[in-house]
Amino acid sequence: MTTNILSGKIISTQLRQTIKQQVQKNVEQGFRPPGLAVVLVGDNPASEIYVRNKHKACNEVGILSKTFDLPATTSQVELLKLLDKLNADKEIDGILVQLPLPDHIDSDLVIERIVPDKDVDGFHPYNVGRLVLRMPLLRSCTPKGIMTMLEQTGIDLVGLDAVIIGQSNIVGRPMALELLMARCTITVCHSKTRNLKEKVKNADIVVVAIGQAEFITGDWIKKGAIVIDVGMNRLENGKLVGDVEFATASKHASWITPVPGGVGPMTIASLLENTWLAFQKHI
Ligand code: GUN
Repeated sequence: MTTNILSGKIISTQLRQTIKQQVQKNVEQGFRPPGLAVVLVGDNPASEIYVRNKHKACNEVGILSKTFDLPATTSQVELLKLLDKLNADKEIDGILVQLPLPDHIDSDLVIERIVPDKDVDGFHPYNVGRLVLRMPLLRSCTPKGIMTMLEQTGIDLVGLDAVIIGQSNIVGRPMALELLMARCTITVCHSKTRNLKEKVKNADIVVVAIGQAEFITGDWIKKGAIVIDVGMNRLENGKLVGDVEFATASKHASWITPVPGGVGPMTIASLLENTWLAFQKHI
């Protein structure tokens, strides 16, 4: 069986190029550039890297990105005040609050404070509800990026059995809704799921987002399945690996995403797409 590598690096480069051209054309026509506000609270090292990468990607395509780097001691009231200001800012089209937030801040409250038409993360209950009802507007970035990758395989997804491992608000849940909208039959697995291996073995599509290095090995994967690895884990030797053991799984899969260079770059490309979409609604 030939295994195809589903490269987020290549697909996202094409997407970014398209967005860059659209932004450029608009600016040449006299419009302001799209604006994204990225809010980081505290000093989580992983979050700092993610935010830096998002900022860099914005700059590359001509989106004006403003980073608000707040100390861990920032109060909830202060954060909500900043969001109110950004909600009213006519030059800001998208607002992203990097998660996780420090424990003294209620993330749900913060997410709900962002006006839905600037919620480029697609986390606001309004945008999640739109997805539930099959009328999406701003869609969560990682699942949206994965759907873009799946489209690139040219495989008809209708009726396929999809297993999603992980039930987070950021990946697992919206991923299930995306695949359901694509008319897959979905199974969402989590830490209390029984017979996980058996479920994965029957899946035509497996999306893994559990944050455990190389948890899924090749013998779990059905011949010809599509494997999407959302994991990003650093081993003690410094190597970056996914939640799937790539070497063995790639012997069974028809398509598989690498780590790094798979889902990660697609999440950022989807954020740029969402900011562009939000901008078009604001001008
Ligand atoms: N933390 C991990 N992934 C994400 C994401 O996609 N958006 C935000 N805001 N925080 C995250």
